[in-house]
Amino acid sequence: MDIGKDRVDLVGDDGKRNIKSFVLRKGKLRPFQEEAIQLYSDEYVIPFSSQMLDFSSLFANSNPTVIEIGFGMGTSTKRIVQDQVDTNFIGIEVFLSGFTKLLSAAGRERLKNLRLIRFDAVQVLNDMIPDGSVAGFHIFFPDPWPKKRHHKRRLIQKEFATLLSRKLISGGYIYCVTDWLEYAHQMVDVFDSVPTLVNPTGGFCQPVSWRPSTGFERKGKEKQHPISEIWVEKL
Ligand SMILES: C[S@@+](CC[C@H](N)C(=O)[O-])C[C@H]1O[C@@H](n2cnc3c(N)ncnc32)[C@H](O)[C@@H]1O
Repeated sequence: MDIGKDRVDLVGDDGKRNIKSFVLRKGKLRPFQEEAIQLYSDEYVIPFSSQMLDFSSLFANSNPTVIEIGFGMGTSTKRIVQDQVDTNFIGIEVFLSGFTKLLSAAGRERLKNLRLIRFDAVQVLNDMIPDGSVAGFHIFFPDPWPKKRHHKRRLIQKEFATLLSRKLISGGYIYCVTDWLEYAHQMVDVFDSVPTLVNPTGGFCQPVSWRPSTGFERKGKEKQHPISEIWVEKL
């Protein structure tokens, strides 16, 4: 099955190079990751297409569906998926090594409430996710793109926040965590600028008890970076 190995296009419909929030990292897959592609893709991987998904037929239930964008190695994703069995999860990640690591864990541990898409989340949301269908978005430690000239690559910008809001059900949430304080303030401002979103705390929220820590969080803490959490809801 094609899991999107070579399909993350970097060129827009207009033929121009799009600004992406990621750089594709190369890396050799380990045998267990190659094996996971063979064994588990049919069950867990949703190929990118311009067809809108129907969550109830995808998961064969009417449970709420949460989407995680940029799950990295998938360590916290796996824990959350296992802890919240009455919620469906779709993980979107372009990084092949992390993608196949979570695919392997999903297959080995028979996770029923998880599906994976390897493609640019912006395009996935636009082309595959129906408006008003998503119960929540998780975006943990998105690349901070610290240099000013790279800020345009940051995921959380007004256009993307508006897109997230459009995809949410009423009362749905966006939950972001970052160790980059200046980006955290940008997130609060960006979400404030979207009229359909409300921030119950007006700023950062308290750590959410069910979110497991990740390697990026540990590295941030080692550098004495404060961890900022932002939770906003769709009106
Ligand atoms: C800094 S890592 C954080 C990973 C993970 N959330 C964690 O906390 O360990 C950010 C991840 O987001 C992914 N990413 C960035 N932009 C993306 C996009 N537009 N679509 C899908 N994945 C994206 C990157 O490939 C990278 O693995």
